[in-house]
Amino acid sequence: MAARKARSTRRSSSKKVGRSRRTRQTRPQDAIALLRADHARVQEMFDRFERTRGDDRKQRLVEQICLELEVHATIEEEIFYPAVREAIRDDEVMDEAEVEHQSAKVLIRELEAMSPDDELYDAKVKVLGEYVKHHVKEEQNEMFPQARAAELDLKELGEQLRERKEKLMSGSPLGAVRRLMAR
Ligand SMILES: [Fe+2]
Ligand SMILES: [Fe+2]
Repeated sequence: MAARKARSTRRSSSKKVGRSRRTRQTRPQDAIALLRADHARVQEMFDRFERTRGDDRKQRLVEQICLELEVHATIEEEIFYPAVREAIRDDEVMDEAEVEHQSAKVLIRELEAMSPDDELYDAKVKVLGEYVKHHVKEEQNEMFPQARAAELDLKELGEQLRERKEKLMSGSPLGAVRRLMAR
């Protein structure tokens, strides 16, 4: 009896260790944590652009920024936004976010058609960065708290976001990602 009890305690404690190790090693599971991590990563890339010199380096970084933004916008539009819209019933916040995505995509397309030696290239990157910062602030200050308070399975949504994101990213370089998103 005592031996059995000891075994079962060991099993459950090893389970706990496994779970915490997994949490540390992998991406966040909860939808909001995953999206916030994306926001932080892209913000860091915009900050890095300010310090980047050389056309090749700038172009590579901007390609990465555009890819991150497009994949992020896609998983929000396909999975997160519809679920949140349904749950929070605040169409104004959701409509604004969708319009902001459309405007950001226009800036992204324009930027992708430019090259770093174009006169307005740096300014375009900066304006996109400011635009994204504004959008992120609204999501994090207005949308996410409402989503957090609503009856949403954020873990399950996070898993869906993670899977879709992996699929989109695994199709990189950019062309393959675009094909997937155009479906
Ligand atoms: Fe967004
Ligand atoms: Fe976002």
